[in-house]
Amino acid sequence: MTDKIWTTIDLIKWGEDYFVSKGISNAKLEVEWFLCHILNCQRIDLYVQFEEPLMKDKLFQFKEMVKRRIEGEPFQHILGKADFYGRDFIVNKHVLIPRPETEIIIELLKKRDGVKSILEIGTGSGCIATTISLENLATSIIATDISKDALNTAKENASQLSAENIDFKIHDFLNTDINSTFDVVVSNPPYIGSDEMDGLQKEVQNYDPKIALTDNGDGLSFYRRFAEFGHSLLNKNGFMLLEFGGVHQVKAITEIFESQQFNVKFHNDLQGDPRIVEMNLLTQEIFN
Ligand SMILES: C[S@@+](CC[C@H](N)C(=O)[O-])C[C@H]1O[C@@H](n2cnc3c(N)ncnc32)[C@H](O)[C@@H]1O
Repeated sequence: MTDKIWTTIDLIKWGEDYFVSKGISNAKLEVEWFLCHILNCQRIDLYVQFEEPLMKDKLFQFKEMVKRRIEGEPFQHILGKADFYGRDFIVNKHVLIPRPETEIIIELLKKRDGVKSILEIGTGSGCIATTISLENLATSIIATDISKDALNTAKENASQLSAENIDFKIHDFLNTDINSTFDVVVSNPPYIGSDEMDGLQKEVQNYDPKIALTDNGDGLSFYRRFAEFGHSLLNKNGFMLLEFGGVHQVKAITEIFESQQFNVKFHNDLQGDPRIVEMNLLTQEIFN
């Protein structure tokens, strides 16, 4: 690869074939993203300057990125950023890479009027709280996490994207109470059971922080806590939007929340699988 003069289009073709042969599904796009990062340009520019030869140092950078990728590192860690709701968020080993299905929480909030205060539990990169702020979906936002390193990344993201009305707080939701109430509580908590961890993709197992993935139990600890503690967290007519692991958790989650007098509604992701559970208090409908 070193002696030949490599143009942008040569690298796109070579990289795509190489990634496909290594089983990387989004092969062409990932190669394009790497080149955009190295050349500091947009994807369209790659095709405007497609016959441009790459300088030696840029070619070296490209090779290093390709090497890391085929060794199994997620492209978001190689680029140091991930997209969430159309914005770039810094990601690193301390935070979960934001997933597209989590954007449903934002879509659901957009359909609701009159929300003033929101609490987010387990903010990670800060992608949910920051997007809520930037999309003007609440006036006051508190975002918590048990991990100091995750919170630092979340603060950096909020500051880089100029999201101003978020109060980031270190907090252990499973073991410490919160003495305030909110119109809405949102969370994408760790919901993978400890016995499911071995079955995860290697990319997830090796690069997403374990504390972001599992509760080290049956994957339902956070929902039990939300069910038991939710009454004292919500304002009148308040509700919760929580992501969960999919169809295999629907029955257990329904039982957990219904046993605490919550009304439960499920929302599907783009694949048609249940992914977000919405809860409000049954008593509100009866007595208000
Ligand atoms: C699945 S990640 C979600 C990150 C981000 N909100 C997102 O959707 O991309 C779960 C987050 O919960 C945090 N977490 C784990 N245990 C916690 C606890 N007991 N209290 C508060 N946060 C916790 C993890 O550090 C992690 O950042």
